[in-house]
Amino acid sequence: MTLGHSKNEFTAAKYLQDELHIEHTSLSKIADTVGTPAYVYSTSYLTDQYNQLSEALTSTPHQIHYSVKANSNLAILSLFKSLGAGFDIVSSGELSRVLAVGGDPASVIFSGVGKSTEEINFALKAGIGCFNVESRSELLRIMAQAELLGCVANVAIRVNPNVDAKTHPYIATGLKENKFGVTKEQALELYRLAAENPAINLTGIDCHIGSQINEPEPLLQALTSILELRDTLEREGINLQHIDLGGGFGVQYRDEVPLNINDWGASVGQILGGRDLQLRIEPGRFLTANAGVLLTRVEYLKVADEPEHKNFAVVDAAMNDLLRPSLYQAWHEVIPVKRSSKAQPLEWDIVGPICESGDFLAKDRVLPLLENDLVAVLSTGAYGSVLASNYNTRGRAPEVLVDGDEFKVVRRRETIQDQLRLELDQAGH
Ligand code: LLP
Repeated sequence: MTLGHSKNEFTAAKYLQDELHIEHTSLSKIADTVGTPAYVYSTSYLTDQYNQLSEALTSTPHQIHYSVKANSNLAILSLFKSLGAGFDIVSSGELSRVLAVGGDPASVIFSGVGKSTEEINFALKAGIGCFNVESRSELLRIMAQAELLGCVANVAIRVNPNVDAKTHPYIATGLKENKFGVTKEQALELYRLAAENPAINLTGIDCHIGSQINEPEPLLQALTSILELRDTLEREGINLQHIDLGGGFGVQYRDEVPLNINDWGASVGQILGGRDLQLRIEPGRFLTANAGVLLTRVEYLKVADEPEHKNFAVVDAAMNDLLRPSLYQAWHEVIPVKRSSKAQPLEWDIVGPICESGDFLAKDRVLPLLENDLVAVLSTGAYGSVLASNYNTRGRAPEVLVDGDEFKVVRRRETIQDQLRLELDQAGH
């Protein structure tokens, strides 16, 4: 039985003697030690992705700011920090995570449409590297807070270049109808306004047009568009040091042809055309998605009694552990951990124990399954664990980081005591 053989080639999960491994560690061994469900990540895959991206930009002065929202586990932040990454954050919580691993606040970019006054103050006091400002009101608020604190805020304005990223509507952000950024015309006004204010140091222009982008054109169009603004500003005497292109670099989940990062890097170099600018990018998914799997065990098989009915494999992971299939109809490959199953392949919907019909991880998958088998849900290193919830009072799954033939639990399984504590404290029990 060679099912699943080619489905995992682009991921960190590999079969060694018919048994699925991350690096040299067998997933069965991890399941025996930490239980299921569990997220498992590969150190070497994460490292290789980072290096690949950095190498694609060797001829361009650049800085990679890892987008913490994709996977905010401290061990992963620590790894990217050791590789030289800065960070892109969207909340004071994410900033606290960066600080917890000893990240340099000056290497952090603060994005997001709704920064609260508390968050702005926290970031200013920490010495944040740059605010990506998304509206006039936000700019005014940052000015006022910086004046109050007697400090200078580094600022880039986020421009919405009205470019179609050709991706799922929930993760497209660069169109006029999206809530993100300001138009180029508004940006020009905001730059003129901020240039007059001593509490603001204008350092760059920012944009981010969406996520899971696999065609280079939208990314390059956005770059060209914000460069025009940069050149206009330069003619007005407003000199910027960086261009931030955001994240969004697509990966393979199924049979997509992912963005060719080297070709993209070469085109970026050409478009920048030797301008004295630092390029910043904020990748999340590209670095982490295929570095991780969600390991889960089959609890029950419900085989249809009529041929037109569905077969269900009820596993111990659910939509609270991995929301992407339910929320975006996202496709994640599911493959057996042991390839030598004696079961007959059947078509299964792979579903969780949650009381919702929308609780599924995958539909219509042909797999040889027996109860108690382990399966791996692939490409779940980005927007997996971070989107988990406690729905149905389920504890969040642990996270495990593999390095060669060793592995470490980098987030323990959440217990029922962890969950009840916040309420029992209040009720005076
Ligand atoms: N920078 C900004 C301003 C962003 O909003 C995002 C993602 C990124 C960088 C990183 O994008 P990436 O390189 O990971 O594509 N939950 C969705 C994805 C939401 C992305 C939100 N913003 C999913 O599971 O597909």
